[in-house]
Amino acid sequence: MSVPRHFLQFKDLTSDELDYLFDRTRWIKQQFKAYQKYWPLVDRTLVMIFEKASTRTRLSFEAGVQQLGGSAIYLNTRDSQLGRGEPVEDAAQVISRMSDIVMIRTFEQDIIERFAAHSRVPVINGLTNEYHPCQILADIYTFIEHRGPIRGKTVAWIGDSNNVCNTWLQAAEVLDFNVHVSTPPGYEVEPERAGLFGTDHYEEFADPMDAARGADIVTTDVWTSMGFEAENEERLRDFQDWQVDAEMMRVARPDALFLHCLPAHRGEEVAADVIDGPHSVVWDEAENRLHVQKALIEFLLLGHINLT
Ligand code: CP
Ligand code: NVA
Repeated sequence: MSVPRHFLQFKDLTSDELDYLFDRTRWIKQQFKAYQKYWPLVDRTLVMIFEKASTRTRLSFEAGVQQLGGSAIYLNTRDSQLGRGEPVEDAAQVISRMSDIVMIRTFEQDIIERFAAHSRVPVINGLTNEYHPCQILADIYTFIEHRGPIRGKTVAWIGDSNNVCNTWLQAAEVLDFNVHVSTPPGYEVEPERAGLFGTDHYEEFADPMDAARGADIVTTDVWTSMGFEAENEERLRDFQDWQVDAEMMRVARPDALFLHCLPAHRGEEVAADVIDGPHSVVWDEAENRLHVQKALIEFLLLGHINLT
């Protein structure tokens, strides 16, 4: 039995593989928009395991695998044995004998790593406390669609050094761009938790305006991620000065894009006139989850396909 390829964190794919994946995404998206059937996954099953809420991730994986001719099964911890203490290693053995690929949204990264270590089929990270690699695939693809290659560009991350931030930092190392990070004191990047090779591809700024200055992308995320709700009140106070507003977008490049993984809280991490304004491409970003994940699933199951 061959060892499956997993996508548990961004750096699981090389820069060449990512270039391929983005080219492939463009083709898959074009075919789908043109009503051309492409069904390489007939009879194949994706199992999706959710321990946290989701709208985009569930929809994009379920619709995506169906559009490739396969089917999806949704499991959540509330109504499966996973929530009643069945060891994750046992669950991995069983689930991976009944399916062809698995997507998991869970808490600690360790859970998905243990699952993958016992899985016969590829496992995809659909968000953990540490990382959200599928989101950053979609974000970078969206930038490429609008502005071209991301190499050498500057991304300003404003707010919490959370799973989405960590993944941007990993992506910067793999694809050779820079991240300017500004977090409130006490919420700084933890390089080890972010799984970084070094500190060459990011710089921290005390003032979010300095992080945004000259950026090609300005991006942020909720101040309180899933699993951290007990800290909500404290975070609301600590993050007040880290809202992406029109003034911040004005110091970025004139053609800067605003990205947000969604769901967003207007009036907290982002002002309404930014997320609903001319720099924002958040709806393309959300849609691109669908297309880029189809390319990812195809790659993990079928490897490189000759581009037509
Ligand atoms: N961005 C994202 O992953 O959204 P969901 O939580 O709705 O899946
Ligand atoms: N950082 C957020 C992302 C949600 C898609 C969270 O983990 O809740």
